[in-house]
Amino acid sequence: MLSLTQAISEKIKKAFSLAGYDESYGVVTVSNRPDLCEFQCNGALMAAKQYHKAPLAIAGEVASKVEDGFFDSVETVAPGFINLKISNKALLEHVKDMFGDERFGFEPMGQGKKVIIDYGGANVAKPLHVGHLRPAIIGESIKRILAFDGFEAIGDVHLGDWGLQIGLIITELKRRKPDLPYYDDSFTGEYPKEAPFTISELEEIYPFASKTSKEDEEYREEAKQATKLLQEGHRGYRAIWQHILDVSIEDLKKNYDNLNVHFELWKKESDANVYIPEIIEDLKAKGLTRISDGALVVDVKEETDQKEMPPCILQKSDGAYLYASTDVATIYEREKLFDPDRIIYVVDKRQELHFDQVFRTCRKGGIAKDSTGLTFLGNGTMNGPDGKPFKTRDGGVLRLEYLIKSICDKVAERMADSDIPEDEKKKISDMVGLAAIKYGDLSNQATKDYIFDIDRFTSFEGNTGPYILYTLVRIKSLLQKIGVSDSFDTKAAVASTDGVSDSEKKLWLSLAGFQDAMRKAVDEIAPHKICTFIYETADQFNSFYHDNRIISQEDTAIKNRWTALLKLVLGVVEKCVDMLGIVVPERM
Ligand code: ARG
Repeated sequence: MLSLTQAISEKIKKAFSLAGYDESYGVVTVSNRPDLCEFQCNGALMAAKQYHKAPLAIAGEVASKVEDGFFDSVETVAPGFINLKISNKALLEHVKDMFGDERFGFEPMGQGKKVIIDYGGANVAKPLHVGHLRPAIIGESIKRILAFDGFEAIGDVHLGDWGLQIGLIITELKRRKPDLPYYDDSFTGEYPKEAPFTISELEEIYPFASKTSKEDEEYREEAKQATKLLQEGHRGYRAIWQHILDVSIEDLKKNYDNLNVHFELWKKESDANVYIPEIIEDLKAKGLTRISDGALVVDVKEETDQKEMPPCILQKSDGAYLYASTDVATIYEREKLFDPDRIIYVVDKRQELHFDQVFRTCRKGGIAKDSTGLTFLGNGTMNGPDGKPFKTRDGGVLRLEYLIKSICDKVAERMADSDIPEDEKKKISDMVGLAAIKYGDLSNQATKDYIFDIDRFTSFEGNTGPYILYTLVRIKSLLQKIGVSDSFDTKAAVASTDGVSDSEKKLWLSLAGFQDAMRKAVDEIAPHKICTFIYETADQFNSFYHDNRIISQEDTAIKNRWTALLKLVLGVVEKCVDMLGIVVPERM
């Protein structure tokens, strides 16, 4: 269906045309002066230039041609605005089509298209820390939003499993358990099935090794050498690496599941490794590479560049591949296996230069099809109360599970007085805590930094996750009290416009903004647009709720219409919340 602004634009375009002006001037938007009107058209101001006529005169002529009945008022205001208020009848007639449609009247545009979203970025052998939170939350939401737009949306965790961290672990493990067969080059038997470490040991080994390598040059060299041998196929190191993967992936899956973040693909950096030699050969053959200080590079600088654009390094002088080689090869692999229309990366914005270099190399080398959209959505950082990247008290990186726990505990504290049984209360406070984190994050523009404010995020008032969930739970409970039967006919229920109050109309208007809000969220890949819609609608609902006695309403026509209204608010907002990756509890 058309969105309400589109439908109204059609009416005003027709009036422009009837008055003898180009209809393209008839575009209508939601009013930015809600105290004056609901919708506005500024087209007469622009038409004035083409027709050399006073804008107010044009507005007046157009207003006189507007179809009767659809609007309660059509006013012209100096210097040439057309201010509109829709009639209740036209409004309800319009929203009626949202009922019974799985997308609530939103027209999907992504059908038949495939998008890969690269948004996990976790590294094996290292626990998830706060830095992994934003890409996970934002990426999951973008995936859901694009799926709602009809895309086949594929999330890829793209695990970091191929870098120095593996070499560090191999090096440290060798010191701690020198008798293991993995280091014995003459060993030809089968390696043990069981990993020589648990996840907790692994999580202790990595930071220890990382710290040691910073203080001990020889140790660092050994780790680098081990990484290189691993990448070249050293049998024992590959076996250790496989153990690390097995132990780590199991743990990561559990952690992402707890976040309600799910990946269709669990691909790894190493999966692309096999393609690197052929890619390099091809780039060489195309004359795109050169040697710089012994390294193999591709120049990616363009004349129009305003910023520094160093060449993309694909192979170091010692033959080792780098992060960029892997990402170039991953695009190659994705084209080969999935033939996507678009690839979107949700990664910390500090990696922007890296992705610029990678994308340009892929374009120059024809590694990505011309038609494949390559988008880097660099997320800002989540900062602590001091405005600096979030740290533990002693300055270390904060593990994600501790952060989540702290916010869930805070929610539990706020729910202490509720009479819900303790075990259920714990489940609910965990759900609400997660919603507080996700909503607090997603309501900010993805590219901007924000301050993680535990008190504000967990508040049950204001633009917060708990407030939105509380509103939805309230609607659920109202509908339960009303006792809506399965045969309830929502479309029939909105036929009457008797006694539509101001707050009721505003709520219907809010809902009617859904399709436009969604379209913006998709086109700008911007989950925060959905949050704005959710918050406005929830707020409008609460005004309506305070103004009207819903349960005790005696007029059946009105009560039925309100029931339909509640069902639509619940349906639409619950869908929106789902696109943020948030789950709504039954009660709270
Ligand atoms: N593992 C990387 C990191 O921790 C992020 C990976 C992002 N995705 C990518 N295709 N490079 O920085």
